[in-house]
This record gives sequence, C-alpha cells and structure tokens, in this order.
Amino acid sequence: MTQQDSVNVTENAESTVQVVDNTGPSLLAPGKGLLRPVSVAGAMEHALQHRERVGVQDFVLLEDYQSEAAFIDNLRKRFNENIIYTYIGNVLISVNPYKNLPIYTEEKIQQYYKKAFFEAPPHVFAIADNAYRSLVYEHREQCILISGESGSGKTEASKKVLEYIAARTKHLRTVETVKDKLLQTNPLLEAFGNAKTNRNDNSSRFGKYMDVQFNYEGAPVGGHILNYLLEKSRVVSQMAGERNFHIFYQLLAGADQEMMNSLRLQGRPEAYKFCNTTDSHTQASKINDADQFRTIRDAMKVIEIGEAEQAEIFQIVASVLHLGNVKFVRNDKGNAEILTHDANSGNVAELLKVDSTKLRSVLTSRTIEARGDVVNTPLDVEQAQFARDALAKAIYDKHFSWLVKRLNAALAPAQFGDRDSVFGILDIYGFEIFPKNCFEQFCINYCNEKLQQLFIQLTLKQEQEEYLREGIEWEPVVYFNNIVICDLIEARHQGIISILDDECLRPGDATDYSLLEKLNQRLDKHKHYKSHRNVDTKTQKLMGRDEFCIVHYAGEVTYSVKTFLEKNNDLLFRDIQALMATSGNTIVEQCFKDANLTSKKRPETAITQFKNSLNDLIKILSSKEPSYIRCIKPNDFKMPMQMDDKLISHQVKYLGLMENLRVRRAGFAYRRTYEAFLERYKCLCAETWPVWRGPASEGVRKLVEVMNYEREEYRMGNTKIFIRFPKTLFETEDAYQIKKNDIATIIQSRWRGYWQRKQYLKMRAAAIIIQKWVRRFLAQRLLARRKKAAEVIRAFIKGFITRNGPETPENRRFLGIAKVHWLKRLATRLPTKILDLSWPVPPATCQEASKELQRLHRALLSRKYRLALSPENKKQFELKVLAEKMFKGHKNSYPASVRNRFVVDRLSSELQVLRGTFMASAAWPTGEKLIYSSEAIKYDRRGYKPRERALLASDKALYVLDAAGRKTFKLKHRLPLEKLRVIVTNETDSLVLIKIPQELKKDKGDLIISVPELIESLTIVTDYTKKPELIEIVDTRTIAHNLVNGKQGGTIEVINGPQPAIQRAKSGNLLVVASP
Ligand SMILES: Nc1ncnc2c1ncn2[C@@H]1O[C@H](COP(=O)(O)OP(=O)(O)O)[C@@H](O)[C@H]1O
Ligand SMILES: [Mg+2]
Repeated sequence: MTQQDSVNVTENAESTVQVVDNTGPSLLAPGKGLLRPVSVAGAMEHALQHRERVGVQDFVLLEDYQSEAAFIDNLRKRFNENIIYTYIGNVLISVNPYKNLPIYTEEKIQQYYKKAFFEAPPHVFAIADNAYRSLVYEHREQCILISGESGSGKTEASKKVLEYIAARTKHLRTVETVKDKLLQTNPLLEAFGNAKTNRNDNSSRFGKYMDVQFNYEGAPVGGHILNYLLEKSRVVSQMAGERNFHIFYQLLAGADQEMMNSLRLQGRPEAYKFCNTTDSHTQASKINDADQFRTIRDAMKVIEIGEAEQAEIFQIVASVLHLGNVKFVRNDKGNAEILTHDANSGNVAELLKVDSTKLRSVLTSRTIEARGDVVNTPLDVEQAQFARDALAKAIYDKHFSWLVKRLNAALAPAQFGDRDSVFGILDIYGFEIFPKNCFEQFCINYCNEKLQQLFIQLTLKQEQEEYLREGIEWEPVVYFNNIVICDLIEARHQGIISILDDECLRPGDATDYSLLEKLNQRLDKHKHYKSHRNVDTKTQKLMGRDEFCIVHYAGEVTYSVKTFLEKNNDLLFRDIQALMATSGNTIVEQCFKDANLTSKKRPETAITQFKNSLNDLIKILSSKEPSYIRCIKPNDFKMPMQMDDKLISHQVKYLGLMENLRVRRAGFAYRRTYEAFLERYKCLCAETWPVWRGPASEGVRKLVEVMNYEREEYRMGNTKIFIRFPKTLFETEDAYQIKKNDIATIIQSRWRGYWQRKQYLKMRAAAIIIQKWVRRFLAQRLLARRKKAAEVIRAFIKGFITRNGPETPENRRFLGIAKVHWLKRLATRLPTKILDLSWPVPPATCQEASKELQRLHRALLSRKYRLALSPENKKQFELKVLAEKMFKGHKNSYPASVRNRFVVDRLSSELQVLRGTFMASAAWPTGEKLIYSSEAIKYDRRGYKPRERALLASDKALYVLDAAGRKTFKLKHRLPLEKLRVIVTNETDSLVLIKIPQELKKDKGDLIISVPELIESLTIVTDYTKKPELIEIVDTRTIAHNLVNGKQGGTIEVINGPQPAIQRAKSGNLLVVASP
C-alpha cells in the first residue's frame, strides 16, 4: 500500500483527530488501546466463549458499543457474578468488589503464569504477566497506568501487580530481600501517605510512580519511587468523618510506654488538635492501628531503617502532633504570643532539637527583607496560626519526601546493568469532582488530563503505526482529543498555570480574586473555560462568584479560587525555614537545608513544580509500553455487591471509557496475525484443515471465502486480518464451536479406536499367554495320557505275549480283559443245537472254565432236548441205542440203518387189511400184542426157491404168513420168540437164518428168510424179548443151515459183490451177495 506516505493525521477545528488518506475518507479509525495485539485479541477469543453467561469479557465485543447503558449493564452482569474484571481491548476495567474474592490465590497466579493472554479470563494478573513477558522476552520497558476515583481500588491493583511479579519471579535466583523491600515499601508509604477519607478507609493522599528494575534474567533487582503532591493540608485539617494520615493514630495506638514518654505523647488522639476530628475512633480501629504500627516497624526493619533513624522519624511525627497543640494568645499589643509555660512548643523544640525560644519567636514574628532593610514584624494570632500550620505541613511533607528518598536508597540495585529494564507502576489519583473543588483538585485533574493525553497519543500512535505497517487504509473517526484542555491549563503565557504563577509573583496586592479576574479576562473565549459571567443563568445560580469552571474531558468541574495563591506560593517564612535547617534532627535538617535559603530568587511555585514533575513523568511513561487499569468504585458506601448506576455512569464518563471503547471500536474490533487466526479457525475450511501448507495469509483468504465475509467486514493486512464487527467474529467463533464438536467427535473416535486397539492388543497378548499356558497344560495332559496309554499298550502286549503263562502282575490286566472278552463273545456264540459242536476258543487261562462251561452248556442243551422229546421219539432213541449195542461194529448194514427211523409196520396197505383180518381170526391168540409187521422173502431149504411172505411179530411169537393170492393170510409158522435163535451175517445183506429148536418138529428145519429192514426188525423184537443173546452175528463166509430134525442142510455162501442179491448158486448153495 502506497498510502503510507499519504496518510495525514490532522486535527480539525473540533479538536478531534482525523486520519485521512489521499484517496479521501475511506476507512478506519485511530486511537485504539492496542499494545500487544496478538495477545489482546487472544483474550477476546476467550471472551467469545463466555459472552452469554456473564456478559462479554471485552467491551469491544459489545454489539451496542455506543450505549452507555449497555456498557454499564455488562459491568453489572459481571459484577453480580463477582467478576470484577473486564477488558476494553487491552485496557483492564476493574470494579472494586469491597470484599475479598478468591481470585488472588496461588492457583490463580499459576493460572496466569506463563500462559497466553487469551487462555484465562480478564485479570490484573493477566495484565501484569503480559507486561512482564514483554519486558523480559522483548526487552520493552513497561508501565502500568492505574487510574480511577479515590477508593476504586488503584492501590490494591498496584499491590496485586507487585505481588504477582514477586510470585512470578519466585523461581529466579535473586536477592530475596529486594522483593521483600519492594513489597514492604507499601505499608510504609501507606502509613505516612494514606488516610481514612469518606471515600476510602485507606486512601492514598499522594501520587506514586514506582519503577521495578529487573536484571537480564527477569529477576527484580531494585526499585525506585516517585511521589507526587502529597495532600499536606490534611496534616492540619480534615473533613468531617475523615482522619489525618494513618501514622499519627498508629503511633499513638502502637507505641510502648517508654516510647510514648520519650516522645512526650499520651495515648488519645483526641488530645491532639490535628487528630481531633469528628470521627469517633472505635476500639476496633485502634487495635488495627496498633497492629499496623507493628507492621510498619517490621517494614522499617526490612527496609533497613535503623533504630536512630526510626527514632528521628517518630520524633518528627510526634512534633507535628505537639505543634498542632501550640496555642497563641493575643498580647496587649494585639500580637500573637506563646505562653512561656506552653509545654507544646517546648516539646516541639525538644523533639526537633531546635532552640525553643527561637521556635516561639519564629512562630510569632516574621523577618522581612525589603531593599536591604531587615525588619522583624510580629504576627497576629491568625498569622501565627497560619505559620504554625505551614510549619506542620512543611515538616510533614518534606519528611514524607525524605522517606521516599530513603526508600529509594534502600531499593537501589547494587548495580544496574546495561540489559536491565524497568517496569513502572503508576498509582495516581483519579479525576476528582467534589461539591467544592480547590487547588488540589485542580492539580489532580490537570494530572488526569495529561495522562489522558498520553493515553490518546500512545494508543493513537500505535493504532496508526499498525495500520501503516499492515498497509490498511483508514478513514477519519471523530473522537475527542483533550490536548486542547491541556493547553488551556499549561500553555505558555496564556494557560491557567501561567496566569496563576504571574499572579503569585506579581508585586502588589495579588489576591485569589484578582487571579479569578485575570482568568476570566483572558480565557473567557476558550471553549473549555467557563466564568461565572458567561455561563447561562441556570449554571450561574449554582456557581459561586469565586469560582471558575473547566470543561474537562471527563466533565465540567467548578473550582473555587480561594487559597489558590497561597497554596501555589507554598511559602514558609524564611525564619522558620532557617531555624529548621539548624535542627538536631538530621532528617529535618536535611529537609530544610536543601531549600535554597541563601538565594533571593523565589522558589518555583507549587503548580510549576507539579507541572514539571508531571512532564517528567509523561516523558518516562511515553518511553515505555503502557498497560492500563481503569478502576471503578461501585458505590460510595464501601459496600460489597452494591452498584450505584449513577456513580458508575459518572466514572465511566470521567475515565473516558466510552471514548476509549469508541476509539477502539472505530476501526476493527479484532485483529489477529494470519498464523494465529488460521490456527484457531482452520478447521472451518476443508482446504485449510487439518494442515495448510501455503502461506498463512492465503489460508486465511480461503477461510474467509468459505465463511462468506462481506467486503466491508474485514481487511487483509500484511501480517494480520482485521475484522470490523464483533458479529462477524461471533459468527466465525460459533461456527468454530460447532465444528469443534465435530472435531472432538473425530478425535474421540480416533482416541477410542486407539484406546480400544490398545486394549485389544493387551487382551490379545493376555489371551496368547493364557493360550500358551492352556496349551501347555493340555499338552502335558496329553503327554501324560499318551504315556499312560503307551504303558497300557505295552502292558497289553506283554500281557498278550505272556497270556499263556501263569498270571503275573504284567499280564493280569490283559488276562482279565481277555477273560471278559471271551466271556462276552461266548455269550453271543453259545451253540443252540445239541448237534452243533462249535465252541469259541478260550484263552489259555480259561481252558478249564471253558471245558466246564461247555460241559454245563451241553448238559443244558441235552436236558432241553430231552425235555422236548415226544414218547415216540424217546422210544425210537431207545430202539436206536439198542440197535447200536447189538449191531454197531458187528454188522456192516448198521451205519445205513442209523439214519432211518424205525417203523413198526412195513406192510403195504393191502397187506395191512389182510393182517387185520388175520389178527381178528382165531389164529391170533387174544391178548397178544403186535409189535412188528414186515414183508419178507422166504427161501426154501431145498432149492432155495424164494417165496413171498408176511412177518408179524407179537410180544410172544413170530408169525410167518403167506398172502396166498392176496385174499387171506395163511399161517405158515408160528414161532415162539424165546425159542428162536437167529443168525445174521456181518455183511450188509438182509438174510436172517432162524434156527428153530428140535422140539418144534412141525417146522421142519431152519427158516431162511430175507427181511428188508433187518436191523429195525431185530431191534424192535429184541426190545421185547430183552434177549439180545438170541441173535448171533457171524463173519464166516459160509453158514450151514439145518433141515428138519437137525439134519445137515445146505450151505449159505456169503460174498461181496457190487449188486446185492440172494439166489441159488450153481454150486447149489444159497449165494448171498452183499455190497461192501
Ligand atoms: N480487588 C479488590 N478486592 C477486594 N477489595 C478491594 C479490591 N480493590 C479495592 N478493595 C477495597 O477497596 C479499598 C480501597 O482500595 P484502594 O486501592 O485503596 O483505592 P484507591 O487506591 O483507588 O483509592 C481497599 O482498602 C479494599 O478494602
Ligand atoms: Mg490509593
């Protein structure tokens, strides 16, 4: 921006400052209390978040910044919540809470310690910390300007700043005593310079500027105090309800008897005229005074004020008290005289170590030097009283200045290095507007005008410089510059001070009224001066004729000119001064010796001295970076939680706070370096979040586009963004707060994810360990099982190998198992049929049991079988058994017979009929039982001719029957069974040779017969006869048979052949062919 050269700061007729660039009025405002924009703007952001709850923390953010009501409302809202601090930009507004709030604790100090400005709510600590950091890190000298009405909390604030600095530098290597001394100057200065007033129980009655000196490390190494204009009139008189300086009461209440004696004092303040006020001293305040006295004695020790010096100080204090009691009487010449027995003057002389006669003399007469002649003129009582009071004031005032000097000597750093820097704290009286205002108020208000001017200059300058630096155009803003009032007061030759001094120095009869006349004459035209004459009639009524009015920046103040000259001259009669210079009290001596006694030249007037010291102060302050604390008193009653709107409004006005705010707000409410702005709000723009890589200004530009800022809402400077309205910022901040939730969600989710994963990994690790141990346990168990299994198997195998041996421990188990197995198998495989001979093979050990079981089983089966047999079958078996006995191994046809069932009747059905008939005939004896029937072939004994016959066997006899043509049976033979002998071959043939005994002659010889079922028939019959011996089985090849009467018959030849046959052989024998 090229306007740098073309920006003009002009002052128009309205005494306002305008800043105009060459393109015409365009933008911005001057004059903002802007010192360290970054940090201050930061505080604002903190305020943003809390604006709803307790008003705004920075008035700059007040939407309705022109309204005093809104301003006060914001103050009240906060005050009701015990929030006494609020900013206007970097200016701290502090409202006296009149109660102890827990906001100065160690933790609070910590909260502001090394913290960015915006990280904590407004606080005096924040101001202190900010200034301190600027001092230490940027090596910029600092001053903190504290202003406000009496009782608004200035001194408290200054103490807090000092305390904070002390705490802040705690960690630094430093001479601890320096800090102690710095802190201890306060009680001392307060004892001597403070008093109870109607506004403040501990009102500072002097202005104070204190420098704290720091070394390169930032540790305090010393200090220096400048004092301004002690209200010395208080020494001799106080308003109703007020007190003299504390020290008088403290001395009277706290000194021990010995000290009291030496000071010729007695305990009651009422005994002393200077302390004898209407204010009734409560017991409580006395105790407090006594305590305070001890405190200041301790403070003196810390400051290293020795016993001797202390004694002298208290001698001075006591002497003032005695001086007040000095009485004058009018002598016969009408002049003042002190009675010789007046102890008071004696005490004063004694305590101040001056000649008592001379003292009395100087108090009652005056030496005037006129044109070389020295004339001693007596004083009247009134003049004497004046002289006495003047002396009291002078002693006290000078001694106070001496004390400050003394403190400075104690605070002076051992050495002051090049890199050391200074931190100033100005605790000075605020604007005073009383019903009656005097010279003192004039001085004080003048001082405030000067400070306001400084404030304007500094803030304006800085604001202007910043805009230039940032290349921002600005537009003129109408705002009041009080330079015009300063000029009214202090302009050379035409200002009030000049006129006042002229009047004081002018020879002739100058009076307060002649002064007023001159002022009216010369200043009547001035816009900020009003005389009784030229005001409207309404004001005229309120204004006295001895009064003039100045329109201060903070309001109109009417001053009475009474005592202006006297106070400005501030002259002590030379004789008194000379006497004091001879004082044996070294302090008094020093105080009065300094005064230029020998010079004839008039000393500077009080107001000029004040003006000069003020200008020095302004010089000091403007070389430093200022911070402002503006103190406000909420009510006139020192009451907590009460806010008097009228009173506040008044103070807001005369502290110029609305002006302050207007100036601050005239331009841009908010400014921030691009980096800082981007850092806070980058999340509002996708392109800048989370990381912006380009230049910060570009990032901010992107951000601003996204946020839709209007052209007139903001400006982009070289390094900073300037935002004009709080609304814009609020919207941005609101968006940010909303966004923050989203971001918080993301962070939370990430964090939770991270956390869960960590938990998961932990659990996993734990699970692995558990698994490991479980696996180990399982593996061990498996191993044990396998081992055991192997042992079992091994034992089993061993058992198997030795299974046939005797039982041993090794095979016992195997054997047991084998037994069980075998038994189980056996149970399923037991033979069910008696003829089934199968039987599971038993293990060796079970052989015996097996046999026994098998036997039992077979017995069982047999028994079952037997029980199941029918009588026929049983008979059949008996017959078979019989057959076996008879034929087995004897006759070859036996095996073939076993298979076939024995049958008792082998006749054909035809023959059976015949048999029936036969048996029914007489031939069959009754009672005989038929046991066997069969067909048979009978061979003739001669020729062996075969003839068919039927055989019937009864239980008695064998019947041989001829079927004879199939009609009836013809009985051929009946042979009794027991008489018969039967011969059969051992071959398979069916030949039966029945030997008939001799006695049966009838039958003519042996019967040769072939019976088809030979075995069957013989067995059945034998079963009846029970005579198996009757049957003979022969294994000869030939058998001879008999004829009738025993005569040798033929021979039966037996051979083996393939085709069984019985026939007559060629040899004539009967040939029996048996198949093998
Ligand atoms: N921040 C504060 N906290 C509590 N009390 C305070 C505070 N500031 C001032 N006061 C009270 O108000 C009184 C007057 O304060 P002071 O600083 O002496 O006023 P000033 O110096 O402006 O005349 C103090 O004595 C104290 O009781
Ligand atoms: Mg004070």
